[in-house]
Amino acid sequence: MDALPLSRQAATLALVLAFSALSGCAPEASTPTTAASSDAPYRDVSLPAGERVEDLLSRMDLADKIGQMTQAERADVTNETVTTLRLGSVLSGGGSSPVPNTPQAWADMYDAFQTAAAHTPLGIPILYGIDAVHGNNALDGATVFPHNIGLGATRDPELVRKIGQATAEEVAAIGIDWTFSPCLCVVRDDRWGRSYESFGEDPALVASMATIITGYQGDTLGGSPTSILATAKHFIADGGTSGGTDQGDAVLSDAELRATYLPPYRAAVEAGVASVMVSFSSVNGEKVHGSPALLTDLLKGELGFDGIVVSDWNGIDQIDGVAGFDQAEVARAVNAGIDMVMVPTAYATFIADLTAAVEAGDVPMDRIDDAVRRILTKKFELGLFESPLTDRSLFATVGSDEHRALAREAVAKSQVMLTNNGGLPIAASSRVLVTGSGSDDLGNQAGGWTITWQGSSGDTIEGTTILEATEDAFAAADAGGTVTARPQMTADSVAEIAGEIDVAIAVVGERPYAEFKGDRPDGVRLTGADVTTLEALRDAGVPTVVVVISGRPIDLGGAERWASAVVAAWLPGSEGAGVTDVLLGTVDPTGTLPVSWPATADQEPINVGDGQVPLFAFGAGLVGPLG
Ligand code: GLC
Repeated sequence: MDALPLSRQAATLALVLAFSALSGCAPEASTPTTAASSDAPYRDVSLPAGERVEDLLSRMDLADKIGQMTQAERADVTNETVTTLRLGSVLSGGGSSPVPNTPQAWADMYDAFQTAAAHTPLGIPILYGIDAVHGNNALDGATVFPHNIGLGATRDPELVRKIGQATAEEVAAIGIDWTFSPCLCVVRDDRWGRSYESFGEDPALVASMATIITGYQGDTLGGSPTSILATAKHFIADGGTSGGTDQGDAVLSDAELRATYLPPYRAAVEAGVASVMVSFSSVNGEKVHGSPALLTDLLKGELGFDGIVVSDWNGIDQIDGVAGFDQAEVARAVNAGIDMVMVPTAYATFIADLTAAVEAGDVPMDRIDDAVRRILTKKFELGLFESPLTDRSLFATVGSDEHRALAREAVAKSQVMLTNNGGLPIAASSRVLVTGSGSDDLGNQAGGWTITWQGSSGDTIEGTTILEATEDAFAAADAGGTVTARPQMTADSVAEIAGEIDVAIAVVGERPYAEFKGDRPDGVRLTGADVTTLEALRDAGVPTVVVVISGRPIDLGGAERWASAVVAAWLPGSEGAGVTDVLLGTVDPTGTLPVSWPATADQEPINVGDGQVPLFAFGAGLVGPLG
């Protein structure tokens, strides 16, 4: 993030506040001032949204309009500033949560922002956005679903729609109206740190998962109290950059761009997605944030997208390649087709710059009005004017048994059995060793975008680890089996217990990361501790089921040649029991690879149909009853 020097921000805020006061619109902070609000047509819920938009737009001055196009980070804005600057939106960036992180505190925060918005001259509610990308993953106690890469392995669009609906319930429960999900990226190089946010490498597979949009929004936006705005992101070709570099450059022909990266957005628009987020990356050297050809001609023109185009976090700063943004960049971003600008901290400067650009004639008022119409339309459709505050009766949905059962089903369906040389199913009468970095770690099994932006190892969420699930299953079966737990193994520790176990479950893989922090230009490999564990079990001849907790294919160090079985578990989230359901044969494996699994890192990028021979092919997976 590159915030502006405080001096410029402070000066600009003073300027904007003065502008606001001079324009005679400075609202009384004490009571809601909704000029002409009681009987104004825009307040009439019986009118079509289009008519309400036009009436409201006709009452707005430039400060109202530009405020609506401005999205600020919750941690960097006050309720008073929401009122004074007439902001259209507030967001929680990754991990930006109130303290305490409880549904009550979230709802109190949200309601305070909405009350502040009600104190603006026209009383236009805000939209509050959050990255609920695998459940409402910022909220303590929420159900944490598998990340998209695992959902792609299920090849079950209806299941994914249900997950969207359950997530929307847990998001709406704390008032929030907008999720920056789904990521409809098509991952073409697994070295990319955002691979796990993709449903897979195949455009048709990714497009089929656009059903999650209907899950989030409902059949019609605002059709229920738990309907929230979905966001198709990141437009476009974020998963196609050279070397898998996050925010890098995708060098593509127009035909490749259309064949590989456009189909998911066509599906999203057909599903009625309410917003599209712009990619940080470039296409053929041009930053997408500054591209009218991509944002206006292709997305809004050819695809007919009529919702909100929102920039990414300080994304407009990158257009000219220089840190921070200036008036020219602001004008270029808005003229390119961005409607809502995510300026987490420098929102006052943005407002001043865009105001100056409009007054200089660099941004036509038609473009401003188009952006504001798009934003207001979604606010009316969502019913925000009628019901701006949190419906706290929905608190009961957070982490509910029903949602956790759905998550467990999704985890089981996402398991991909890559090999099985007699290792599966594991009998509950066995003497089992459960070991490895992912065996008893909820943070590792949840991955990034969990409580914090990057996620972290450890006991970070409510849920069940794979070890706990194995212990629970053995206890329930009461078949005489035993479970021994060790975080990792060495040759010595294996020697100590080799005679007391029948089979080992070695849960190995990645630790949490997000975005560019997950880029692995030299390939994706196991950590030293996991390699030591696997080698010790191999060398001792212990029958071993290898379970891989990762956001993408990972170099198994040859385990596929000696292990009794290898299962790709992806990033399953809070419900580890879905993994053991398959390992113990309670649920038959049905998952198949959503990406090609390379034999070596130097095969990357490797994708179906490119002529290379992967270790495991796109679509591979042993399915059906075990044993
Ligand atoms: C991040 C991500 C984007 C996310 C946004 C808001 O940088 O690129 O996916 O929605 O910022 O957190």
